[in-house]
Order: sequence, then structure tokens, then C-alpha cells
Amino acid sequence: MSSLLIEGGKRLDGEITVQGAKNAVLPILAATVLSGGRNVVYNCPDLSDVSSTVEVLENLGCSVMRRGSILEVDSSNIDNCTIPDSLMRKMRSSIIFLGAIIARCREACVSMPGGCEIGQRPIDLHLKALRSLGIDITESHGYIHCKADKLIGAEIHLDFPSVGATENVMLAACMADGITTLENAAREPEIVDLQNFLNRMGAKISGGGGSVIKIEGVSRLYGIEHNIMPDRIVAGTYLVCAAATRGQIVLNGADSSHMSAVLNLLSDMGCKVWREKNRIALCADKRTIAPPCIKTMPYPGFPTDIQSPFMALTAISEGTSVFVENIFENRYQHVDELIRMGADIRVDGRCAVVIGKDRLCGAHVEAKELRGGAALVVAALAAEGRSIIDNIKYIDRGYEHIEKYLSLCGASITRRE
Ligand code: EPZ
Repeated sequence: MSSLLIEGGKRLDGEITVQGAKNAVLPILAATVLSGGRNVVYNCPDLSDVSSTVEVLENLGCSVMRRGSILEVDSSNIDNCTIPDSLMRKMRSSIIFLGAIIARCREACVSMPGGCEIGQRPIDLHLKALRSLGIDITESHGYIHCKADKLIGAEIHLDFPSVGATENVMLAACMADGITTLENAAREPEIVDLQNFLNRMGAKISGGGGSVIKIEGVSRLYGIEHNIMPDRIVAGTYLVCAAATRGQIVLNGADSSHMSAVLNLLSDMGCKVWREKNRIALCADKRTIAPPCIKTMPYPGFPTDIQSPFMALTAISEGTSVFVENIFENRYQHVDELIRMGADIRVDGRCAVVIGKDRLCGAHVEAKELRGGAALVVAALAAEGRSIIDNIKYIDRGYEHIEKYLSLCGASITRRE
């Protein structure tokens, strides 16, 4: 089990180049299955979720070569349309392969993804939308069996703007017969990156980033090269680390247009924030002011993925904050660990009340899931004394070499295997 050792109390002061977005590269790697050719993905982050996705691609018959942040995927020889239980349990978000495999092979069989640390994670919206495209889907023995003689464009409405369901429809419909319109689509920037990738492959998709996406089916797609967008959640996390340590940071490669809710909140909390198209700077020379209420919402609302890092920041801000987690039902697992560090937090269902303290104390804590683990890093950097964070495999799923980047900014942080 790997751990992070952090000596808190050091002001961050430095520059970081933001990694490629995990939640953009995963669906884009799934999309490489559609081309039947050679695809090259640049700015691919070094994450365990990316490694798991490569395993899925190789399991399907793709050949994958990695050179640093460049990933080359040749999907000429797809000889399998099944994702086994072992791989689905490794990474439940492999469900976004469903649409791509069906579009390429006209059949697919994947193990039920099941829930995860942050919630039950149902896929009913995915399956209802895919059935609208003429796909016959049966669920038995823990597997989802899909078959379609042909895919037919349809008018689809999502009951909730699900990111994964939106991506699955885009992947399945881009080579269907006819036109698909998807209403109440997710509007996240990662959807736009996927649309751009697919259109460069030869797809005809418009409306990405809005609530209605139109997909005009084409007969085939071609392998291309693509540069992954920057990770807005990782960027926001590093800004919170600087704010928590009353430091300053420059983020190169960050796209500030994806981060309005986060940047506006940091300004409201008293941080000085400078934003350019591909660079963000933050300076926090005093204790932050607690925002009265933080509610997570679908994009462009406040992102659920950065709720826990902000909770760590409000734990040492001046005043009281109320959090409302509207997206996932179990996204407060970091609270008990923050309390071990001296935080004053009370949880009641989807709500959490945080009364800011002057300081936290270092402690031995445990990451329970990806973004909750990042929250513990924020708290440990600001806390007095030493912290040990166990189970950092969760953090490695979404943050590339976190200890390297933070050390470059002056943090005292080391990894212990
Ligand atoms: C994506 O998950 C992201 N993951 C999540 O990031 C992110 O938190 C989430 O979108 C919301 O922005 C990836 O992109 C790989 P959803 P996804 O479908 O697609 C309910 C991280 O930390 N729902 O938009 O699974 C669901 O239960 C991860 O990087 C259904 O009810 O999210 C949840 O309450 C965590 N039925 C809500 O919708 C469905 O069929 C949002 O889920 C699908 C979803």
C-alpha cells in the first residue's frame, strides 16, 4: 500500500503545467475503437485509469503503444466484443466502451459495472438511450448483452444530463443510419473534446457543450491525431492547494473558460485570481473567507469532482459553509478523515456543515476514493505537523505524479511504498 508523507505549513509558490483531462481521454480512447485504423493521442496523462483503459483496448484486440504522454492506438483488428468482469471491476467507467463496441461490431457484452465508492452509479439512462437506437439489450448473469443488426438514428431525451450516457449515445450513433438528436445532454467540456475528436475522425456531430446534440450518421470513420484538453478538476485542485497554504501558483495549459464556477468561488473567498485563455494564476496572502453555501450541479454549475478539495479549504476558512452534494449520494467519505485532522464538520444526508477552524493538525488518514483523497492532500499541506495519507492508489487514478508537482511548488511531500 502506497502512502504520502506530508509536512504541513509550507506556502506553495511555483508553476505547474496541467495534465491532460482524465475524463476526456477515457471516452476518446473508447472512440478509437470506431476508426479501424491508427490513432495518436497527445497530452495523455499518466494515470492508473488510463492504464486500465489500455487493458480494455488490448482485450478487444487493439494494439497500443505508449511513448511518454503520447498514446498510439491501432484498432484495425478488433477480434473481441466482450469486456470481462475483471476489467469492469477495475474501472467501472469502462461502460463508455459499450456504444463504441456496438457501433463497430454490432454486438457487445460487458459485465455490469456496479457501484463504486461514491455511489450506486446506475446505468439505466445509458441502456434506455442505446435501446432507442435499435439495440437489443438483455441483462443476465451479471452481464449486459447487446446486439443490433443495424443502428438507427433516433430522438432521445435523457432524464438527467448524464455525462457517460451522453458519451455512449455519441459513440453509438455516429455511424447509425440517419440522424440522432440527444436532448438534455451533458454540457461538460469533455463532451466537446469528444465531439471534436469524433468529427476529426469523419463524424458529423454538432451542439456539443449545449443541451441538444445532433449526430448525423456516417458510413465509416478514420484514425486521426488529437491533443487532449487540460484537466479542469486537477487544475482546480492545485489552485485550492495554493489557497489553503496562503501561497501562490501559476497553472500553465489550464483553460480558464472551463472553470468559471471554480475561479469565481476562489475570488469570492478572497483569493486574487488572474485568468488568461491558457494560464491561470492565484495568490492567497490571507486566510480565505468561507462561502455560505456550495451546491454541486451539472456543468456549468459547481463541479461535484471538486467538492471535497473545497471542503478541505473551508475547514480552515473564516466562517461557516454549507455543502449540498446534488450529484452523488455518497461523496462525503473524506469527512471522517478531515475530522481526524481537527476539522469541525457535520453531515446530514446530502448536506454537510463546515465550521472553519484556525488550523488543522497533521494526522494518519486514509483515502477512500479519488477526489476525497485529493481533499486530504489539501488539508495535510495546510495542517500543522506531519500527515500520512494511506491508500493513495485512489489518488493515482486521477492525479498524475501529485507529489512531484507539489514538491516543485515547495511542498514537503514524499511517496512511501
Ligand atoms: C462522469 O461520471 C465523470 N467520470 C465523473 O468523474 C463525474 O463526477 C460525473 O461525470 C459528473 O460530472 C468520467 O467522466 C469517467 P453521470 P458519470 O452519468 O458519467 C446518475 C471523477 O472523480 N445516473 O453524469 O458516471 C448518477 O447516479 C469522476 O473524475 C443515473 O441515475 O456521471 C449520478 O447521480 C467521479 N443513471 C448522476 O446521474 C445513469 O444511467 C451523474 O452521473 C447514469 C447516471
